[in-house]
Amino acid sequence: MSLLEVKQVNHSYDSKKLFKWKNQSNKILIDISFVIEEGTCLGLIGTSGAGKSTLGKVILGIQPPQEGQVLFQGNDIYKADKLTRLKLRRDLQVVFQDSYSSVNPRMTAEQIISEPLENYEKLTVGEQRRRVIELLERVGLNENDLKKFPHQFSGGQLQRINIARAIALKPKLIVLDESVSSLDMVTQSLILQLLSELKDDFGLSYLFITHDIKAAFSISDQIGVLEKGELIELYDSKDQFFSSKHPIVKQLRDSILAEHPRFRTLTTKAN
Ligand SMILES: Nc1ncnc2c1ncn2[C@@H]1O[C@H](COP(=O)(O)OP(=O)(O)OP(=O)(O)O)[C@@H](O)[C@H]1O
Ligand SMILES: [Mg+2]
Repeated sequence: MSLLEVKQVNHSYDSKKLFKWKNQSNKILIDISFVIEEGTCLGLIGTSGAGKSTLGKVILGIQPPQEGQVLFQGNDIYKADKLTRLKLRRDLQVVFQDSYSSVNPRMTAEQIISEPLENYEKLTVGEQRRRVIELLERVGLNENDLKKFPHQFSGGQLQRINIARAIALKPKLIVLDESVSSLDMVTQSLILQLLSELKDDFGLSYLFITHDIKAAFSISDQIGVLEKGELIELYDSKDQFFSSKHPIVKQLRDSILAEHPRFRTLTTKAN
């Protein structure tokens, strides 16, 4: 059984048009189907407005699709009973792009990371602190950071705290929605390295949403291209992606090649 199975999901935000579904033009997700196996990462790339975050929300159980199913370990997340939903909330976590707005500015790092533990596990004060310190260390921070507030961290450090909070309950799947996009290149690559290690250590699975193809390739086992709500192709390897004849993929490919000086064409000639 796959960890996550998305089956023919269709979605539009305009509920009034629900009954005109087949003809409406404002579809956000169109017939999306794919699976994510345990311990693997699906990178989802696509231009702005393609529907990536909407798909992430559908998978997280916070945006019921108008058609189709999301099965997590075989259970339809939108039809699950209360107990299963509670377990699903533990197993499915999310890390967003903006590390600062993802946390309460009045909470210390310890309080931020403790929140899921308090909600789900009955630990003593000492046990909880030990768990928080372990988590801080796991993401490259330490005990001295316990009492610091969000404004005392850099964006990269705060994203590490968001990651520590996301892994606190040992989830099965994390939706990473542009989680490294606002970080500088060096910090971005350190966080990607951390995410890869966590994936291997805990057998974690990711849906890695990004518009950055290079970041996607550095962590993903499979790459999906979403364009105007359609999952146009899925690739198991870089080679498959680079040899695709699909015009949208060609455009995406050209956009990264154009960044490389060797592939840049001169538009102005010297006089
Ligand atoms: N809550 C909402 N209500 C109505 N329309 C929405 C809502 N959220 C998103 N949309 C629309 O759905 C479309 C897809 O948005 P979405 O945020 O999923 O795109 P995205 O691929 O994540 O884009 P980006 O790369 O810019 O984050 C957009 O046209 C957006 O305006
Ligand atoms: Mg988005």
